Amino acid sequence: MHPHLKEILFTREEIEAKVRELAQEISADYKESYPLVVGILKGSVMFTTDLLKELLIDVELDFMDVSSYGNATQSSGEVRILKDLSTRADGRDILIVEDIVDSGNTLHYLKGLLLERGAKSVKIVSLLDKPEGRKIAIEADYVGFTVPDEFVVGYGIDYAERYRSLAYIGVFNQEFL
Ligand code: PRP
Ligand code: MN
Ligand code: MG
Repeated sequence: MHPHLKEILFTREEIEAKVRELAQEISADYKESYPLVVGILKGSVMFTTDLLKELLIDVELDFMDVSSYGNATQSSGEVRILKDLSTRADGRDILIVEDIVDSGNTLHYLKGLLLERGAKSVKIVSLLDKPEGRKIAIEADYVGFTVPDEFVVGYGIDYAERYRSLAYIGVFNQEFL
């Protein structure tokens, strides 16, 4: 375990098994469709690529990068687009791939935006869900694991841009702040 972590929540093997399970469920639900999979940079990169490898259907892949701004006490959750889709959203069945739903601001904004652009459907798969962090009502359609209200890192998820490359998910030890 990385010395800045205080515990491991999900091992590489547990994540692999969960990703395969989610991929099978998603493949069954989209077997009549050719969905547009949208990975949200940067946190969802590992999850997106691992999930794609386990899908039993063909999909189109694109990415978006967004950043929340304004102060953290605001519940309005303004979000700014840093990189937009290169693909048109209208008429598409879209599956947003996220690493974690925390306040819900990012996904609430993205889902609204893609529906406004005329997407036929917008669903969300998130590897992690932190329900205690929620500030706005939004739920992922597919969730891997529920996590406690702590600084979760690894498998793409950072704390101050660090620890993304860990193959497992753990809790950051705040003694190393
Ligand atoms: C993190 C995470 C989610 C979002 C969840 O991304 O990857 O995208 O925050 O938080 P929310 O539910 O409160 O909106 P971040 O903006 O830190 O960017 P990153 O993915 O590049 O780390
Ligand atoms: Mn992110
Ligand atoms: Mg981040």
